[in-house]
Amino acid sequence: MSRKVAVIVGSLREGSYNRMLATALTEVAPEALDFDFVAIGDLPLYNPDLDEGTSPEAWTRFRAQVKASDAVLFVTPEYNRGLPAAVKNALDVGSRPYGDSVWDGKPAAVVTGSPGGPGGFGANHQLRQSLVFLNMQPLQQPEAYIGNLMKLISETGEVTNEDTRKFLGTIMSAFASLIEKHA
Ligand code: FNR
Repeated sequence: MSRKVAVIVGSLREGSYNRMLATALTEVAPEALDFDFVAIGDLPLYNPDLDEGTSPEAWTRFRAQVKASDAVLFVTPEYNRGLPAAVKNALDVGSRPYGDSVWDGKPAAVVTGSPGGPGGFGANHQLRQSLVFLNMQPLQQPEAYIGNLMKLISETGEVTNEDTRKFLGTIMSAFASLIEKHA
């Protein structure tokens, strides 16, 4: 049976390497997984006042897309040793209205990509911290800190390193198993 995975990319940049990394992950994933890239760049900053009455259209669209998925794949850069604000905002928007969180119980995978050696470790763990609170089920192993990203993916999005391609496949196989476990 196929499972639907929402993909959230933490970089809003048009030429984002993390977006290319996300695409590469979908390409090596088991066939049972279908992917839906969910936009987060148009979400107004979360303000509870805006949930009184008719919520912003972008929030409604975002919540429906994530709700319709069986799992969520986050692929994000690290900003100042933490999570890009766009991703945190998306988490906040999806967590409300109170009691109707779109994240609750869903399996998740976190992949961070960075030009630096630590591979976005700070952002990766900061994100996991929120996912645990949101009662998601984050993939524990393998951990996915993709450092030196620009040396592993070409400007057109091709994974140029064979070991990296294999590793991306390992991540997605483990994620598919986790999703089945929670189905
Ligand atoms: C960065 N970058 C960065 N990289 C990193 O490994 N650790 C960090 O703390 C930061 N901090 C940071 C802050 C801000 C505001 C920006 C814009 C960038 C560099 C970042 O990893 C690099 O720009 C990546 O290319 C971003 O990924 P995309 O946009 O190519 O997907």
